[in-house]
Amino acid sequence: MAGLIVKGGQELTGEVVASGAKNAALPLLAATLMLRGDTVLHNVPHLMDVVTMVKMLNSLGVRAELLRGNRVMISNTKKVRHIAPYELVTAMRASFFVAGPLVAYTGFAKVPLPGGCSIGSRPIDIHLSAFEQLGITHRIEHGFVELHAKQLIAGVVKLAFPSVGATENVMMAATLANGTTTIEGAACEPEITDLALLLNRAGANIIGYGTPTITIQGVESLSGTEHSVMPDRIEAGSLLLAGVITGGDVTVLNCVPNDCVSLLDALTQTGIQIETGPQWMRAKHGTSFRGIAIETQPHPGFPTDMQAQLMALLTLASGQSEIKESIFENRFMHANELMRMGAKIRLDNRSAIITGVPHLTGCEVKMTDLRAGAALMLAGLAARGETRIHGLKHLRRGYDDLPGKLRSLGATIIE
Ligand code: UD1
Repeated sequence: MAGLIVKGGQELTGEVVASGAKNAALPLLAATLMLRGDTVLHNVPHLMDVVTMVKMLNSLGVRAELLRGNRVMISNTKKVRHIAPYELVTAMRASFFVAGPLVAYTGFAKVPLPGGCSIGSRPIDIHLSAFEQLGITHRIEHGFVELHAKQLIAGVVKLAFPSVGATENVMMAATLANGTTTIEGAACEPEITDLALLLNRAGANIIGYGTPTITIQGVESLSGTEHSVMPDRIEAGSLLLAGVITGGDVTVLNCVPNDCVSLLDALTQTGIQIETGPQWMRAKHGTSFRGIAIETQPHPGFPTDMQAQLMALLTLASGQSEIKESIFENRFMHANELMRMGAKIRLDNRSAIITGVPHLTGCEVKMTDLRAGAALMLAGLAARGETRIHGLKHLRRGYDDLPGKLRSLGATIIE
């Protein structure tokens, strides 16, 4: 199993540039299935999930190429195919983002059921219910979801929970519906705003994105355009924590501090001093920090994708912390690995009670998902001695060269 070795004990200092957001790039790429002509996406992070989505587009008859300089060129000029390959959807759940664009653009989509993953069972019932409300019928057979719609029926679509993926899927589909669709109970994540901005540039008419009520006035067609992917707020937060956990001083550039407010608030509560500017954020050198209580929530609450990394930090806080995971039912796998490094954590259903310890010690650990991987890297950077982390494929799926970025700040990481 491929892994890496992190040598602990070095203070990380300096400036580092955050890449484009994985969670924005994936739906943006899926949306190009509906954009007739040529599209160029800039600031696309170079990571495995993006490579998988680019393969998906090619398999559906759209020419997509990942180029140097973090650009993807997409040419959608031929007939788009309807059937998403099993191996791509099961390799990455976000492949299900192609369902909405495909059915809206061609009237029919056949997409394998994505299945669960290490952080939870991850059903698609909210996506399917939202599609139904748009007049898209579905049938599940032989492991595939088949979606049909002669014509999309615009109207009110109510989401039972602000699912990020369901909001994106139904927002994409509704751009080609006949009439006005209102999504109620929509997710408010910044990545949804980025998707709406691309779609509007392509000719869509969407307002209210970034709020729980999104209104989409359907249009006849969408055409190719140019767009730059928003900065990755989760990568930016992970890099900021690398400075804090090593007692260093890291400034993250090319990020949007406003998108990271709940993380910055949590860090401020621990006593860490934060500075921000229009496109940068800094956690100040040498400050000690205390335990806090946080709960993961849909945006603008604390993001589940930063929970593991914050837990790594809180293992070294003075006093006790509590983290409640409210989004995914099984997202504490990293806790057991952190305990192997000397952390004191008690798991109680969906809560983790963390009692700060003076130091962690390096050992062999394994990543179970990509954010757990980032958390173990942070812990390894702060630990005494060497940490050997297995399961590198998880990190490569979701981060654009995190080890390289950490090395640029002074870390010793051997791949
Ligand atoms: C997206 C992000 C992921 C992040 C998550 C929550 C991408 C590519 N991924 O995932 O990094 O952790 O948002 O912020 O953007 N649910 C259902 N039925 C559904 C859909 C979701 O029960 O049909 C549940 C999920 O199991 C989960 C919760 O709702 O417990 C949140 O899921 P959702 O917001 O849909 O996450 P994703 O879009 O899959």
